[in-house]
Amino acid sequence: MGNSVASLCVRLDPHGRGSLQTRIYGEIRGAILDGIVAPGTRLPSSRALAADLGVSRTTTLLAFDRLMAEGYLNARRGSGTFVACELPDDLPRGRVSRRPGAPNHPPLSRRGAALASTAPAAWRVGGPPRAFRIGTPALDLFPVRLWAQLVNRHLQSVTLAQLDYGDPAGLRPLREAIATYVQAARGTQCNADQIVVVAGAQRGLELICRMLLDPGDGAWLEEPGYPGARSALMEAGARIVPVRVDEDGLDVAAGARRAGDARLAYVTPSHQFPLGVPMSLARRLALLRWASRAQAWIVEDDYDSAFRYGTRPVPCLHGLDVDGRVIYIGSFSKTLFPALRLGFLIIPPDLRKPLLAMRRSAPGYPPVLDQIVLADLMANGHFDRHLRRMRAAYRERLEALSEAADRYGRGALRLRPVRTGLHAVADLEDVDADKVFHEAVARGIEVMPLSAYCTERSAAANSLVLGFGSVRGDDVIRGMEQLTAAIKAARRSIG
Ligand SMILES: Cc1ncc(COP(=O)(O)O)c(C=O)c1O
Repeated sequence: MGNSVASLCVRLDPHGRGSLQTRIYGEIRGAILDGIVAPGTRLPSSRALAADLGVSRTTTLLAFDRLMAEGYLNARRGSGTFVACELPDDLPRGRVSRRPGAPNHPPLSRRGAALASTAPAAWRVGGPPRAFRIGTPALDLFPVRLWAQLVNRHLQSVTLAQLDYGDPAGLRPLREAIATYVQAARGTQCNADQIVVVAGAQRGLELICRMLLDPGDGAWLEEPGYPGARSALMEAGARIVPVRVDEDGLDVAAGARRAGDARLAYVTPSHQFPLGVPMSLARRLALLRWASRAQAWIVEDDYDSAFRYGTRPVPCLHGLDVDGRVIYIGSFSKTLFPALRLGFLIIPPDLRKPLLAMRRSAPGYPPVLDQIVLADLMANGHFDRHLRRMRAAYRERLEALSEAADRYGRGALRLRPVRTGLHAVADLEDVDADKVFHEAVARGIEVMPLSAYCTERSAAANSLVLGFGSVRGDDVIRGMEQLTAAIKAARRSIG
């Protein structure tokens, strides 16, 4: 083995970074890991390598020393330095030189590829809330100081039991507080043992779908519908059956015609995502009747029912269920803040054992300290006070959006009436919503075309979804001006 090995495996870029010794070490190590220099190969002497590279011998010696200390090289007295036959298995962290060009690994699974291609629930330009971010509440009005005080207080008095693995169903005082809240606010009956605290509604949805569905089982999904539910159903291997939504909510008769034998129906009855319509009582009863006949489950996602504008609260579907086939999902992402990642399920008592057992294999338990703080917030009236404040704030923000749409968006878009929740649907005329979406994004405005929530493109209405919960008055006006400009630009691009 001559000096050619050195030129083969050590290339010293004159503009390279790091000391010479580190770079020589890295080049030889990379050549060994990439198999360019095979185990057992004799390396040139440190003197020859130094001469070949035009560096001092001390430099190459120090690089060799480090490679020997890390187990890449062995020195055999009298015969030279060799690449170790067994490479170290705890490789030190550092750069492993990768093959240039496209990676050469196997493809995603079909399920992985399908999941990766589902649309996000909302397109984000990024940064703090801006017009018309979907799915974000009024973070600027969240009582951060109060939250910090509670965190501090509970951390200072934390017990050893609280530092241990928590109750897999969730902290008992929090489950009790949630049970009290839903019974008062959502018109249903449940006890703390039926509540399971989860790391956000999405986590709950995944758990439920995996527990209740076998691959190939039919599952109704509202059309248009929530992408998060679509992902959870796909992950469970369900056969997704889109079922149209009209002004009364999910069209149960259409679902029964299309897939009467489905095993599960996912619905957002208080505030259909994304259309915003509440499901009529007649439809709720029809859905329960169908589910009873078909022996199907109903998953009720009650993600933002806490905010209503001039309408009376409609009791949740769970409250009408006599069979124990409705699983209720609640979230604190809208009532508090999304980064909290806290939500809950209400399950029939007999599902508790299998659900908690299943949870052992995919835990993702929410942090106990957050649960302690939330339990305190709820038990001591702070949560109700916050909701009252937020209801007034959202009423104002919705008014600001409606006024801005009237003043700046006249002739460009028309808002549908908003009765619940934190987003609005705006109908467009003579211009394609997908084109407007692209023009809006280019102007830093966050909206979504309704088509993004449809499984079957033909069913898409030519409309946009606009969030208003996180958008302050001035930003609404600026945002509406930009959105109107986006609509004009999209019109021009038609010709
Ligand atoms: C229909 C629907 N369900 C649930 C959620 C909340 O999910 P999570 O609690 O995982 O934030 C959202 C949030 O935007 C939603 O739109």
